[in-house]
Amino acid sequence: MKSILLLALLGLLTPQLIYGGIIKTEQHRNPVRSPVHFNSNGTFKIVTFTDLHYGEGAGSDWGPANDIKSTKVMFDILDWEKPDFVVFTGDLMSAEVMYPNGTETMDQLLEPVVKGNYKWASTYGNHDIGNNVSREVILSAEQKYDGSYTQQGEEGLIGNTNYYIPIYPPTGTNGSEEKPALILWFFDSRGGRNSSGGISAYVHETVVDWFKLTAQQMNETWGPVPSLAFFHYPTDEYKPIHDTIADHPECPGQHDDIVTPQERDTGFMEALVASGMIKAAFVGHNHGNGWCCNYKTLALCYNRQSGHGGGWVGWTRGSRVLTLNIDDLWGPALNYIRLENGTIVDQFVSQV
Ligand SMILES: *[C@@H]1O[C@H](CO)[C@@H](O)[C@H](O)[C@H]1NC(C)=O
Ligand SMILES: *[C@@H]1O[C@H](CO)[C@@H](O)[C@H](O)[C@H]1NC(C)=O
Ligand SMILES: *[C@@H]1O[C@H](CO)[C@@H](O)[C@H](O)[C@H]1NC(C)=O
Ligand SMILES: *[C@@H]1O[C@H](CO)[C@@H](O)[C@H](O)[C@H]1NC(C)=O
Ligand SMILES: *[C@@H]1O[C@H](CO)[C@@H](O)[C@H](O)[C@H]1NC(C)=O
Ligand SMILES: *[C@@H]1O[C@H](CO)[C@@H](O)[C@H](O)[C@H]1NC(C)=O
Ligand SMILES: *[C@@H]1O[C@H](CO)[C@@H](O)[C@H](O)[C@H]1NC(C)=O
Repeated sequence: MKSILLLALLGLLTPQLIYGGIIKTEQHRNPVRSPVHFNSNGTFKIVTFTDLHYGEGAGSDWGPANDIKSTKVMFDILDWEKPDFVVFTGDLMSAEVMYPNGTETMDQLLEPVVKGNYKWASTYGNHDIGNNVSREVILSAEQKYDGSYTQQGEEGLIGNTNYYIPIYPPTGTNGSEEKPALILWFFDSRGGRNSSGGISAYVHETVVDWFKLTAQQMNETWGPVPSLAFFHYPTDEYKPIHDTIADHPECPGQHDDIVTPQERDTGFMEALVASGMIKAAFVGHNHGNGWCCNYKTLALCYNRQSGHGGGWVGWTRGSRVLTLNIDDLWGPALNYIRLENGTIVDQFVSQV
């Protein structure tokens, strides 16, 4: 027990051992990537893409035409924003209706980030699984690119994309590879269906326990590190906020859809709050929602649907863009929606 804890702490302290989780022996599960740093001026910008839903309507005109539009959305927004990192919050494809396969679809949808030489990380959604496409296939399809920081979570964690990425201070500054300035956490809220049957849509207890333990170990080693959480399904806590959002002018953004939360409350949001680390949570799933609001110690946000797949109901697609400054990671942070037509809307300054 003691030696495992020691290994865990060693893993925390040694940047190149961190990828794939904090336990050193699990490193083989994922390719090693070079550490990610803030820019020398202390900034770090993240562009999020959610609910792209590639691969629909094979053999039709509309499916491939939607994917061409989604690719343009990504190329344009990356060109306008030139982010330091890109995050996909699930439903990259509509795997349950797809044939041809997930590898080809992944290659297609990643073209904008691969061509632009961006670094990115994903958490998968309920449509990133089907009879012919497993999450494992999707994961290895993206991990073959050096830009992918997406990881298979540690052994014993239910779901695939349960992991974190440390973001270090600017290269060359004191301690710039020892203590992360920011941590990006990814959680797999699962769901969907394959030939074995339906898969429950919630962040599993094993993952909540892993988060609590890991956050506690980080706190013991480094002190609290400001963090952001990304997952696909909203939690129960989104619903009362959504239902009363008209009373909250400080919570801008689209609210044109219902909230379908995770199927079970495993204490996940409570753990995010109790960690004292998480500054904001970002989800997708309900395509017509794109708001941000403060809740207890963090901001709860929907990202803006980016893909033209997944049903066209007239909403302008876009991306939630996060701007971070290393000097002010505990303070209010600005994010906004960059729409596919170039307009910036829904600027949100977190109050917590
Ligand atoms: C900080 O540096 C980045 C990367 O070089 C650059 O894109 C950004 O515009 C700079 N921001 C400011 C406020 O200078
Ligand atoms: C799954 O693959 C089989 C061939 O292995 C094919 O017949 C079937 O149509 C595919 N299903 C879908 C939903 O594409
Ligand atoms: C999926 O596509 C890739 C790339 O074209 C190919 O190498 C692979 O054999 C295909 N897999 C299946 C199951 O069709
Ligand atoms: C770097 O920071 C540590 C403590 O954070 C300090 O002990 C050390 O002297 C610093 N090194 C330099 C070169 O400034
Ligand atoms: C269906 O998905 C679950 C969860 O990812 C996985 O454990 C199971 O092996 C899959 N079944 C098939 C037939 O791929
Ligand atoms: C983090 O560590 C500090 C110092 O040991 C402790 O006071 C604090 O309660 C810890 N925070 C959490 C959320 O565990
Ligand atoms: C972009 O789309 C938004 C929302 O549909 C609209 O309000 C805005 O006027 C559009 N901007 C341009 C430049 O067309």
